[in-house]
Amino acid sequence: MLRMSQIKKVLVVDEMHESLIEMLNSIGYLADYQPLITRNQILETLVNYDGLIIRSKTKLDKSLFDAGPNLRFVARAGAGMEEIDIAAAKAKKIALLNAPEGNRDAVGEHVVGMLLCLFNHLKQADSQIRAGIWNREANRGVELKGKTVGLIGYGNNGQATAQKLAGFGCKVIAYDKYKSNFSDLFVEEVDMSSIFENADILSLHIPLTEETKMMIDENFIRRFKKPFYLVNVSRGAIVSLSAIYEGMKKGLIMGVCLDVLENEKLATLNSFQLAAFEGLKSFENVLFSPHVAGWTNESYIRINEVLVEKIRNLDLSFN
Ligand code: 3PG
Repeated sequence: MLRMSQIKKVLVVDEMHESLIEMLNSIGYLADYQPLITRNQILETLVNYDGLIIRSKTKLDKSLFDAGPNLRFVARAGAGMEEIDIAAAKAKKIALLNAPEGNRDAVGEHVVGMLLCLFNHLKQADSQIRAGIWNREANRGVELKGKTVGLIGYGNNGQATAQKLAGFGCKVIAYDKYKSNFSDLFVEEVDMSSIFENADILSLHIPLTEETKMMIDENFIRRFKKPFYLVNVSRGAIVSLSAIYEGMKKGLIMGVCLDVLENEKLATLNSFQLAAFEGLKSFENVLFSPHVAGWTNESYIRINEVLVEKIRNLDLSFN
């Protein structure tokens, strides 16, 4: 039985799977689940909490951390930390936790799923049959087996993707600016020049930072030795929509799988983004999904398990 003085309070400001509340209780936290709370309301009430659990709705900057003098941690239910001012959190000694282990397999499976769908024309074939068209030759597929897949980024998502693609007989090569000596059964560590030289498919597994913003531009695309397929399940702003549209028109890119977009609020695309988006939509070999690569029934719960375990370990390290 916990005494009142032992109970710690955590504010949950985004929609999460309901299992989170019970899991937090089990490690001595009272969870205040407020998925609809506004930023101003967070600022008014944050003083009362030891921890904050977020997804991506709220920008966490110095002014927000100033409003939470008792905050010991911010836990991100998911992978991406781009909404958090990491230096400001560090300055306040607030621990930052995230849960990429919770949705890495969902992301890896989504990459494989998008590629299989694109390579086997499943979207078009299904629409044709619904329209009474039975066209086998136009739907002849391409195999994943034997393709060289270049991954940029070899963290949780990159590793899960490599494992799954290796199972399909792909040769997986990966470049990670911040990691080395990671070659294993599934992947060969390479430098960027080897990806430009050898990749049939490029898949991105890096966070959005000042360094990676608009990294995939026309210059980048021109450096590939042969036409390639592009998969982006990381962050939309890493890839310029206009650049990939140009790449598709010039035949430098053979097909695209985009789970994320430069601007995901489709009603607010600027004129350049809109022109590129409309252009990309006209290609049959472009496949979109609405930022759901990490979103499965399983990952919805696993993310909570990973996060709560990390909060528990953080508490143990304090005691
Ligand atoms: C992630 O970073 O884990 C995914 O992109 C999902 O993010 P979201 O929970 O903010 O939608």
